[in-house]
Amino acid sequence: MAKNQSNGLGMTPEAMRQLAAKVTDVLVDRIDGLDGANAWDGEFREVLETQLGGPPPEDGRPADDVVDQVVREVLPNAARLDHPRFFGFVPSSPTWPGILADYLASGFNINSCTWLVSSGTSQLELVVVDWLRDWIGYRDGAGGLLTSGGSAASVEALVSAREAANHPDQPVVYMSDQSHSALKRAAYIAGVRREHIRLVQSDRFFRIDMEALRSQVSEDRAKGLYPLAVCANAGSSSTGSIDPLKEIGEFCAEEGMWFHVDAAYGGFALVTPEGKERMDGIASADSVGLDAHKWFFQPYEVGALMVKNAAHLENAFAIGHDVLQDTVWGSNHPNFADRGLQLSRAARALKVWMSVQTFGMTSFREAVQNGLDLARQAEEYVKSNPLLELMTPVALGIVCFRVNPGEGGYDESTLEKINSEVLTRVFWDELAFFSSTSLKGVFSLRLCIINHTSTWDDVRRTLDRVVELGQEALTES
Ligand SMILES: Cc1ncc(COP(=O)(O)O)c(C=O)c1O
Repeated sequence: MAKNQSNGLGMTPEAMRQLAAKVTDVLVDRIDGLDGANAWDGEFREVLETQLGGPPPEDGRPADDVVDQVVREVLPNAARLDHPRFFGFVPSSPTWPGILADYLASGFNINSCTWLVSSGTSQLELVVVDWLRDWIGYRDGAGGLLTSGGSAASVEALVSAREAANHPDQPVVYMSDQSHSALKRAAYIAGVRREHIRLVQSDRFFRIDMEALRSQVSEDRAKGLYPLAVCANAGSSSTGSIDPLKEIGEFCAEEGMWFHVDAAYGGFALVTPEGKERMDGIASADSVGLDAHKWFFQPYEVGALMVKNAAHLENAFAIGHDVLQDTVWGSNHPNFADRGLQLSRAARALKVWMSVQTFGMTSFREAVQNGLDLARQAEEYVKSNPLLELMTPVALGIVCFRVNPGEGGYDESTLEKINSEVLTRVFWDELAFFSSTSLKGVFSLRLCIINHTSTWDDVRRTLDRVVELGQEALTES
């Protein structure tokens, strides 16, 4: 028996190559055929249970069969988030080098926990973190780590804020009514009581109302509570709105509060001059969370938490452990596990680094700009079509609109019915996939246009179809 076949879990080199080649063919065909595929497929539980349920088998079967079944019955039942006409929620379209980076990292069995265990990918993480530092506009002394995504980054940010404030009693966290649920959960996990998570009202452009924020903070101080942090949006998930970052930064400095920016969705717009301008003030934040698996074209999972003062992370998270005593190499050799909540960690920097090395920042910048440009074109389309209504000016790749012929005089509840009917029809029509949101209680259709594979033709065809289906729904209403 060859060494790598020990205990029945190995494969011969020929079998390994053959299986990998098969999987590669499947993936390349899938990606190459995306435009002709549905943007979404799914199946009901009863069907999937019949196909996939059951106890673990005592004896295995040919690996080819297992791959065939997975490719037939499991993986296609999913949103194709990288389809050129997938505009729902927050899409993503990973690059091939990024995908292969995950394969390589798994094959090399990398655990990016400490310098001793993986110095190569720790160095890459330092490099990628430094790129992020530069894009945000942070000075030396800032630092961070790559995370599983925006949710983990938010938890780590608020735990750092709590520790920097010396773990106060009765902390209060402020965010707008547009903030992502991940931020509320993060505050809760960081020890903020649910009733002390303040959802401050937003203005008509869905940006936090500064007056409301100021008066809420002073009211809370008067009650003896501890205003801990403000979480601002730099690209809210509903509309892409950006809170007044400069003003919030100044306010937090005056009040001695931690300033966190949730840029999970919009943060990578920073690589374009336009995005950088719109996010003016972001560098005054104590921490910024941003997701490379959204608008930086990486496979799941990779987000990042950046902090203005790198020491805050280790102050909050580093805990020595006897069994890890050999891993301490000194401050010049950071152990990324000391900066966040995970010990065993995927080598997330590899995909970011490899894809940027392969295509270069000029291409990445153009790809991000493509989303900004297409969203603006979509906004013009909506504004010039008498059947459609723009719900709010486009911000950062998100277009909120609805079917509402101006002269129709439809009331809100009829409009909601018509638009949810349009959404259902789009769904079954299979040309494209997008989703909806609720804008202060008003049902809105929503396109999030950030895939590097999307073209104006994809966006225009989707909007043309909305107009057709909207016309049908109006006629039948
Ligand atoms: C603005 C914003 N914040 C936070 C999150 C949560 O990020 P993740 O899904 O990577 O945990 C999202 C996800 O869409 C988001 O859009």
